[in-house]
Amino acid sequence: MTDSTTSKEPTIALVTGGAGTMGKAAAKGLIESGHRVVLADINDEAVRAAAEELGADTYPIAFDISSYEACAAAMKHVVADVGPVEVLVNNAGVLSNAKLVDTTPEEWHRVMSVNLDGAFYLTQLCLPAMRTAKWGRIINISSWAAKGGGLTAGTAYSVSKAAIIGLTFSTAVETTKDGITVNGIAPAYVRTPMVEKQLTPEQQAAVMQKIPVGRYCEPEEFAHVVQFLASPRAGFITGEIIDQNGGFQFD
Ligand SMILES: NC(=O)c1ccc[n+]([C@@H]2O[C@H](COP(=O)([O-])OP(=O)(O)OC[C@H]3O[C@@H](n4cnc5c(N)ncnc54)[C@H](O)[C@@H]3O)[C@@H](O)[C@H]2O)c1
Repeated sequence: MTDSTTSKEPTIALVTGGAGTMGKAAAKGLIESGHRVVLADINDEAVRAAAEELGADTYPIAFDISSYEACAAAMKHVVADVGPVEVLVNNAGVLSNAKLVDTTPEEWHRVMSVNLDGAFYLTQLCLPAMRTAKWGRIINISSWAAKGGGLTAGTAYSVSKAAIIGLTFSTAVETTKDGITVNGIAPAYVRTPMVEKQLTPEQQAAVMQKIPVGRYCEPEEFAHVVQFLASPRAGFITGEIIDQNGGFQFD
């Protein structure tokens, strides 16, 4: 059963939020699978340091994914310097713990512009080359908060992560005939500064009570799912959201 969908040379992957814990872990996994990785992040210094740490021909680029113009300009550089992107991991995200009545319009738009608009812009910019190649993988990072409404996470965050599931389904429907798969991952509580630094010890203790597996998800476990979805043999999976929540919620 070897054809163009099940067998493919590793290609160029772009991971947004590549300077963050999960982005860096995902990039490491993709490098191990043989991909050349473009690390994208708004934090110039951090993304350069992450690329240096990962080595192996990693290409760092700093831009703000919430700006269409910045995304378009960055993608021109990426295509010219590295080549067309065939694996896109929309991972960059910002957290907001503000619940509905405390969410200002500014906070709402800040969260949506990064967590949703950025993924939309980059998907739109990467799709033509994937269609030309008749191969592509788009992996959108959602969250358990999309399904459960957010335990510690607030309204704008939960809604943005639900919306990226809608973006996943909508893009998957449009691309099934193009050799492209579009999937999402919905993690809950990965061992990252987003969890360990942004939650109070009381919140962390309450969370731990609710995770049946009794621990946080390791970034490497998250990276393993990205690696799997990016692989040629995941070619029959599209429009799927993989829960990674330690038994927190079944559906
Ligand atoms: N940590 C968790 O438990 C958890 C759970 C579910 C989902 N997630 C999601 O996983 C993803 C990664 O989370 P993390 O914990 O590694 O976060 P992180 O804060 O360590 O990394 C996020 C990265 O995104 C970058 N970024 C922020 N705004 C940006 C912008 N406008 N343009 C480009 N880059 C930008 C940041 O500089 C940072 O390096 C996020 O989308 C997050 O919502 C995390």
